[in-house]
Amino acid sequence: MEKVVVITGGNSGIGLAMAHQLAARGARVCLACRNQAKAAEARDLILAKTPSARIELYSLDLASFASIRQFASELAGRHDHIDVLINNAGAAPLTQQFTQEGFEMQFGGNYLGPFLLTHLLLPLLQAGVQHKGEARIVNVASIMHMFGRIRPDTFRGMKRYSPGSAYAQSKLANLMFSNALARRLPTGVTSQAMHPGGVDSEIWRDLPRPVYLMLKPFLITPERAGRLGADLALSAEHAGVNGGYYTAQWPRPLSRTARSHEAQDELYAASCELAGIPGLPVVRQG
Ligand SMILES: NC(=O)c1ccc[n+]([C@@H]2O[C@H](COP(=O)([O-])OP(=O)(O)OC[C@H]3O[C@@H](n4cnc5c(N)ncnc54)[C@H](OP(=O)(O)O)[C@@H]3O)[C@@H](O)[C@H]2O)c1
Repeated sequence: MEKVVVITGGNSGIGLAMAHQLAARGARVCLACRNQAKAAEARDLILAKTPSARIELYSLDLASFASIRQFASELAGRHDHIDVLINNAGAAPLTQQFTQEGFEMQFGGNYLGPFLLTHLLLPLLQAGVQHKGEARIVNVASIMHMFGRIRPDTFRGMKRYSPGSAYAQSKLANLMFSNALARRLPTGVTSQAMHPGGVDSEIWRDLPRPVYLMLKPFLITPERAGRLGADLALSAEHAGVNGGYYTAQWPRPLSRTARSHEAQDELYAASCELAGIPGLPVVRQG
């Protein structure tokens, strides 16, 4: 049976590679992207390599609650269920930027937006469980979470912006959310996280060229990272597996904060308040 997979930021880098592999494995892929011209290019690229691909394009800016809500309702208008949500989109701006709601862009766009989106799409994922017996959420985090600290005083901006700490905080939050969700999701829906590895993608676009060239030999291809994401989304091996953390390029350290239930629950409660949604109760211990 065809699986319906929603992927954020599927028009570039790891997301595009994942989208292609998902489509090649027979999934219907909903590309949720903020840049529609790039999304159409991505669709055409996938179709050129895999003519049987089924791709749908949606507009989504994770730095705007209105856009997230609009996307969730558009998706619900076109699908009575989804099988997989891949929270892949992320950015690492070198200068401080803000979301529509005034959150620092990396906290707001990389973490809080996907947090809200996931909750809004939960009814469609639960309907996926009715249709196919299971549904999955895959969260793209990063090894950089190891350097992250959750600092509520920076959620709305840093006095002295540090792009590295902002990125690390957002990726730690992604991983903590993935783990917090695994203890809260209704039966049949699972939450897994991944570090894609150091991947040669557009995310490095703002780095000075010599720095990028120094890093390049250590970076893996988006296709290699995309394979892991597509496996987590579709493979039988991962059916029913909840709360895992994987990588396409070792090592894969996992910070104490990311594992701490107490820290996860504190961030979860604060995020519900910031996103203006009721939280899910804990239903199992991870
Ligand atoms: N590359 C690495 O080494 C690495 C390592 C660890 C983790 N990651 C994570 O992997 C994920 C994918 O990154 P990538 O390396 O493939 O980078 P990328 O090529 O820059 O792709 C990032 C994607 O996210 C989208 N995006 C960013 N902000 C968005 C927003 N507010 N709303 C909607 N879409 C947004 C981008 O859209 P636009 O095209 O409009 O910019 C783009 O499609 C990210 O979560 C990143 O943190 C990457």
